[in-house]
Amino acid sequence: MGKAIAIDGPSASGKSSVSKGVAAELGFMYVDSGALYRGVTWQAIRKGVDATDAAAVLDAMHAADWDFFVQDGAAIFSVDGDVPVQELREKDVRESVAHVAAIPEVRKFVVESLQSLENFGSLVMEGRDIGTVVFPDSPYKFYLDADPEERAMRRYRELVAAGEDEKAHEVMDSLKKRDKIDSTRKTDPLVVAPGAQVIDSTLMTLEEVIQTVVDSVRGE
Ligand code: DC
Repeated sequence: MGKAIAIDGPSASGKSSVSKGVAAELGFMYVDSGALYRGVTWQAIRKGVDATDAAAVLDAMHAADWDFFVQDGAAIFSVDGDVPVQELREKDVRESVAHVAAIPEVRKFVVESLQSLENFGSLVMEGRDIGTVVFPDSPYKFYLDADPEERAMRRYRELVAAGEDEKAHEVMDSLKKRDKIDSTRKTDPLVVAPGAQVIDSTLMTLEEVIQTVVDSVRGE
């Protein structure tokens, strides 16, 4: 069995960039666990389901055909033969995903799917519950954090760079709302996993954070 590196933390804490960097440096597969929660949300929306209707979301999720594979060093999935990427970042998905991710049966499906990816080899997985629920026995757990203002600014710059017409204070409000739903939900709320190394990236560069994780995994 390969190594599973768990990188958890709140929205816009730098998890994606750090996880991709660590995966590239170690030659491991990169896995974005949030993409699968977004995929379930996207599938529900395209089937005309209201994301707050848990029973209907589950029906849409179970009726779909999910497949997982590795492409360009990352694990990705198809749903009913389509591979959504850009679609997962769109506003309707973004606004509903925290509700969908709070449904226990959705979490069970996603967690089991994520665990099965270990069969593809060593991986770096980013998320909210990777160290607590998906790979609780992994010796390589990290919790990335940064001040809310810094996280909101990072997310704002990302959205503007992607051509979205957003206002900084709206991004801040939406981030706070998501933080609250993610950390107070009943099933698997965002918490620091026992044994996780906490890294506050507010004043660190991306390279420094990547190096901190890589050194720790290599035992340096
Ligand atoms: O990381 P992200 O923004 O793509 O996450 C999308 C949503 O999914 C967010 O509301 C948190 C949730 N999520 C989760 O509950 N557990 C994970 N392991 C990953 C994401």
